[in-house]
Amino acid sequence: MSENRIPLAGVIGDPIEHSLSPRLHGYWLKTMGLPGHYIPMRVVANDLEEVIRTLPKAGFVGCNVTIPHKERVLQLADLVTDRAALMGAANTLIFRKDGKIHADNTDGYGFIENLRQGTEGWDPKAGPAAVLGAGGASRAVIAALLEVGVPEIFLANRTRTRAEALRIEFGTRITVVDWVQAGNIIDEAVTVVNTTSLGMVGNPELRVPLDGLKPGQVVTDIVYAPLKTPLLEAAEQAGCQIVDGLGMLLHQAVPGFERWFGQRPEVTEELRNAVLGQ
Ligand code: ATR
Repeated sequence: MSENRIPLAGVIGDPIEHSLSPRLHGYWLKTMGLPGHYIPMRVVANDLEEVIRTLPKAGFVGCNVTIPHKERVLQLADLVTDRAALMGAANTLIFRKDGKIHADNTDGYGFIENLRQGTEGWDPKAGPAAVLGAGGASRAVIAALLEVGVPEIFLANRTRTRAEALRIEFGTRITVVDWVQAGNIIDEAVTVVNTTSLGMVGNPELRVPLDGLKPGQVVTDIVYAPLKTPLLEAAEQAGCQIVDGLGMLLHQAVPGFERWFGQRPEVTEELRNAVLGQ
């Protein structure tokens, strides 16, 4: 392969039509004046391995990976970062010049950067975090919160056993509470995170008592459609600092773009508007 080929990257998943990543990377490529293309690719599970082995030969420098392939790609990679191993999933692949496939997970990084840049003075060490939900997104959020020094995480999930499994995996700084007690943990937390799909367009609302929300708390939602979920609406009315979930998507894309295209992009208001099609 010629060294001067235009670098290609993209996102593989199934379905893929709704992915905002092509818009996001396309915006950066265009505004930063960099050569490159970022292409959405619908890849069914049966084709995953062949596609991943073929992409580097076709001039791809890497790709993002989304549902349902985030776990399986770990087995296809030659190198897995600690954070991807910890989460049991990867969202970013780098095809190295030596032919090795490097798998990383930047979801936790995106989550933390979104809170750091979307608030004034968020201090994860200032007190406990309340995390609602115990699925794949929760795992990334928990790992990231522990890494930045949250003293304690109160974790509530409809299916308690899934929360217990995360506690066993991540250790003693996690306290599991029943889903019906979600209101109580919100009351005690400095940082409140919804990692469930509740509140997303087409899904039921998050129905937990929110009267414990108060000024001084930072509240975020990984759901970004709508941008202001009912949880964030309530939190804003209660005087909390709120951070919507779109920023996590934008920030998680930064490390991959930098590796593939050679320059670190910025997350700006213009980028948000471009991704939202405004
Ligand atoms: P993701 O990878 O996006 O986290 P997931 O692994 O399917 O997706 O997890 C979805 C989360 O939303 C889970 O915490 C799920 O709770 P369960 O573990 O009990 O399934 C939560 N969730 C989805 N629908 C829910 C509902 N109607 N009520 C309460 N929690 C719900």
